[in-house]
Amino acid sequence: MKQEELKRMAAEAAAREVNSGEIVGLGTGSTTYYAIKYLGERTKDEGLGIIGIPTSRATEKIARESGIPLGTFEEYQEIDIAIDGADQVDHRLNLIKGGGGAHVREKIVASTAKRFLVVVDETKVSKELNIPVPVEVLPYATGLVIKRLEAMGATSLLRLSKKDYFISDNGNYVLDADFGTIEEPKKLEQDINRIKGVVDNGIFAGYRPEVYVGTKSGVEVFHF
Ligand code: A5P
Repeated sequence: MKQEELKRMAAEAAAREVNSGEIVGLGTGSTTYYAIKYLGERTKDEGLGIIGIPTSRATEKIARESGIPLGTFEEYQEIDIAIDGADQVDHRLNLIKGGGGAHVREKIVASTAKRFLVVVDETKVSKELNIPVPVEVLPYATGLVIKRLEAMGATSLLRLSKKDYFISDNGNYVLDADFGTIEEPKKLEQDINRIKGVVDNGIFAGYRPEVYVGTKSGVEVFHF
């Protein structure tokens, strides 16, 4: 089975958990894409009535095209269920997110959601977190933050887009900070966020997600 198929299976299984009347956090990325499409189909076919809160401009566009009504935090301050992808999931269900640079808004949505469903294919599951951590920084403070991260043991790369520096939906830069194996995800998440100029980072530790993993033998669900 191809990786795309595994992503789709996980995403659709999670999207089946959504009920009419719910405020739904819509994550960002190629796996969540399938969940949004599926919610769009359910809206048309079953008359599913939901309001989506998108985590990025890209997701907003996909959701609109899929026919999902959207809302904002001005109108709704509680999210019933959020569906989002991840770049790595460890065995204690800590995550690294932000491969698409949307982790700041994704963390706001996840922290506001009663249920946080994470959709991944089996290649994302790892014994420990060990990929570079996306860190969104104010452009003004970038040089300073790189030095502070270096003092914490990380080598950081300023993320690029096709032509220039990558700019987040919030107008900031993203650093990918390589700490090697992360022994204490919660502590590192907090320590990085204490650096002035950091907006937020892609470690999601202790968010108690329900993780839907697409595997060759079906979808496996892990939760606390
Ligand atoms: C977006 O910034 C990310 O947090 C994504 O949710 C994450 O990178 C997973 O994306 P894919 O589903 O495309 O792998």
